[in-house]
Amino acid sequence: MRVVVSIGGSVLAPDLDARRVEDHADVIEHLAREGVELGAVVGGGGVARDYITAARDLGANEVQLDQIGIDVTRINARLLIAALGPKVDPKVAHDYEGAGDAIRRGDISVMGGVMPGQTTDAVAAALAEYVDADLLIYATSADGVFDADPNVDDDATRYEELSASKLVDVIAPMSRDAGASAPVDLLAAKLIERSRMRTIVLDGTDPESIKQAALHGEHSGTDIIPEGTDDEPSYWAQR
Ligand code: UTP
Repeated sequence: MRVVVSIGGSVLAPDLDARRVEDHADVIEHLAREGVELGAVVGGGGVARDYITAARDLGANEVQLDQIGIDVTRINARLLIAALGPKVDPKVAHDYEGAGDAIRRGDISVMGGVMPGQTTDAVAAALAEYVDADLLIYATSADGVFDADPNVDDDATRYEELSASKLVDVIAPMSRDAGASAPVDLLAAKLIERSRMRTIVLDGTDPESIKQAALHGEHSGTDIIPEGTDDEPSYWAQR
């Protein structure tokens, strides 16, 4: 079983807390011991936003801002690598081939961003497609996909289950609103739709929830189920 886990920067490192990074690394190592082949993609969180805001004030253009964001995601990736044991590839993978090679030889691979114009949500979806993963998990700070922003709308309702094309429909208007925070970005949603990737969006603040979702499919977030494949992945039944 092969799993790609996307860990938002605000989940892994909202502040520099070694204990939190260690807790996420423990879960990833546990999954590896259970025989799960793993790729992890790490976001930039508030630190990336702070650097981007400062650089924008200094007159940097959007590509330069994205490059700063990518650098911060790679620093967070290094933090996670530092916490992982000997089964991790010590290099931050800068492309899908590098990550795929590491995963195929049995290492855990950790990536940050790869190129301007997107976020690590899209990196995770592309990596999952590239390595033909069985499952893609987004560990975010929101507990799934909602029909409105749960931080501003008390009536926002969580989808327990969505098709990939419905995910694109739900995310598209959110992505158009300046400042609105979609749980995954539109490019990621389109890649999930294209690759027919079984995907879970969950609150990853407690890394234990990533473990339960990966091993048993149990979680309180949102299942993205590709059209025509409503069967549960067979490895869940075997555990
Ligand atoms: P994130 O993936 O963390 O962005 O990348 P985000 O989704 O806005 O933040 P969180 O972590 O979920 O809260 C940080 C920034 O790095 C650049 C973008 O500018 C992005 O906003 N980035 C990241 C890229 O340009 N390309 C990438 O492949 C990844």
